[in-house]
Amino acid sequence: MKKIALTGDRPTGKLHLGHYVGSIQNRVKLQGETDQAFYMVADVQALTDNASNPEKVRENVLEVALDNLACGIDPEKTIMFVQSQVPAIAELTVFFLNLVTIQRLGQNPTIKAEIAQKGWNANVDQKEDLNKPGVPAGFYCYPVSQAADILFCKSTVVPAGEDQKPMIEQCNEIVDSFNRLYGETFSRVSHVSGSTARLVGIDGGAKMSKSLGNAIYLSDSKEIIKDKVMQMYTDPNHIRVEDPGSVARNVVFSYLDIFDPNQNEVAELKAQYEKGGLGDVKIKQRLIEVLETIIAPIRTRREELAKDPERVMQILRDGTRKAQEIGEETMRQVREAIKINYF
Ligand code: TRP
Repeated sequence: MKKIALTGDRPTGKLHLGHYVGSIQNRVKLQGETDQAFYMVADVQALTDNASNPEKVRENVLEVALDNLACGIDPEKTIMFVQSQVPAIAELTVFFLNLVTIQRLGQNPTIKAEIAQKGWNANVDQKEDLNKPGVPAGFYCYPVSQAADILFCKSTVVPAGEDQKPMIEQCNEIVDSFNRLYGETFSRVSHVSGSTARLVGIDGGAKMSKSLGNAIYLSDSKEIIKDKVMQMYTDPNHIRVEDPGSVARNVVFSYLDIFDPNQNEVAELKAQYEKGGLGDVKIKQRLIEVLETIIAPIRTRREELAKDPERVMQILRDGTRKAQEIGEETMRQVREAIKINYF
């Protein structure tokens, strides 16, 4: 069986370190280990909660493509394309919707968390009001559309952050139902999450996220990285350098654990910090250098690529054409399986 990888980003903003450790590192690695890799700009999914803001989605198509290219996605190896331009994804979504109940949609933990964060009202028996608007149906159903993203090109692996696990589970349920009802057509998919399940934000919040304003971006300048690290939450009881400090829930040490290539030195620093005699500024300065070493080459390459946006759009155009052909072939099989191949 062929190994095919697909992943994507919603074009709603620039990508950050959470994306990098959660998925991008794996995407880059997998493009050399699979028969084919796909990278999708998920503009249709982005519109499910940005219907009134299409300009934002449009502007960020280029930004997420630039972030991925700068991190090492190679258009020679990875088919890079735009979701809205591949009709097979929309068509498959319509057929997959019949295989999922609204109860099941309401149980997806990622969807639930997103609805809560947005303050939407998911109770269908309650009247909607301006303070608590209802959930857009397209948003509620995006896991089904995501299954179509994954299956239109017969993917078998999806490198994506830990929060995407429920989407892959739902996708596999759709694979099983489809195959049971219409005959063996799709294969089950596996999820590969990054080395770090979830990167905390610079405020120590549960998750680095653009909407929470606690992210370090792959395009941040050294000055900005410095400002953000200096703001990082450490140990509120570590007031004087001599005071013993705590490394648990200390964001600076959490990041050093993940990003610092010299873990022996990190262990020594932790011991010294706990004993007392190591200041916050020292460890923050170390972290600034560690992050700058990772981000600087990405930023430089991104700036280089950003000089020629037409070339990046051409890469997406070429990839989209290939994705359209692949999708058409899958649709031929799907129409035959569902017996709607009339003509
Ligand atoms: N839901 C993903 C996110 O928010 C983006 C995405 C859309 C995706 N379609 C996908 C990821 C298919 C992996 C596979 O980041």
